[in-house]
Amino acid sequence: MRRRRVAGALDIFLSHENYALLDDEQTNQKIRRFADAAPLHVEVGSGRGGYLCQMAKRHPDRKFVGIELKEELLMAAVRKAAEAELDNLVFIRGYAENFKTWFEGAAVKTLYLNFVDPWPKRRNARKRLTHASYLQLYKSAMVDDAQLILKTDNRHLYLFSIVELAKYFKVVDSTHDLYAVGDPQNVATEYERRYVAKGKKIYRIICKIEE
Ligand SMILES: C[S@@+](CC[C@H](N)C(=O)[O-])C[C@H]1O[C@@H](n2cnc3c(N)ncnc32)[C@H](O)[C@@H]1O
Repeated sequence: MRRRRVAGALDIFLSHENYALLDDEQTNQKIRRFADAAPLHVEVGSGRGGYLCQMAKRHPDRKFVGIELKEELLMAAVRKAAEAELDNLVFIRGYAENFKTWFEGAAVKTLYLNFVDPWPKRRNARKRLTHASYLQLYKSAMVDDAQLILKTDNRHLYLFSIVELAKYFKVVDSTHDLYAVGDPQNVATEYERRYVAKGKKIYRIICKIEE
């Protein structure tokens, strides 16, 4: 994601204290308090937060968590959430590598991977957020009827991911062209809107926990 360095972005993120969580020893406790025993809907690599803000507005009865590394993007995300006065959404600043620590004892019902970095070189396969090592982390916090949903414009990531996902989940739906198939429930992310405007096809995979 192209971004400008913004002085004080982390401070601005943290000043939105209803929405901002850091990666520290209290994160798990804070997430569990936020969830209040309800299932969570989590986006890994939430960018500027547009997708989660739309989802949180559309589903006020659900609790959403975004995970993102970059403070400039987090700053934009919490500003959006505050402007919309959402009370069912928080963002964690940190690496998805720590997923298990944050969500231990919580119930993740949906895990969204929207347009995650494809890391095209084979030597970087381990960095893809659909690599087996990440899938095991996500799965450790997912409830029995949970779903994992991947959207990407990248064919190689799609092909890699479908193989990785099938090791730990049951693939229940996959499409090479989401907009040709159509899904009235689909909410477009910021990247998705950009790719669709350029005429790119959107791939989607939906998985469930294997029974
Ligand atoms: C291509 S952007 C997609 C943003 C958004 N999901 C969308 O569809 O508009 C991918 C995002 O994932 C974040 N990211 C990459 N690796 C990550 C990691 N290990 N943990 C958390 N976030 C990560 C990046 O900082 C980036 O903002």
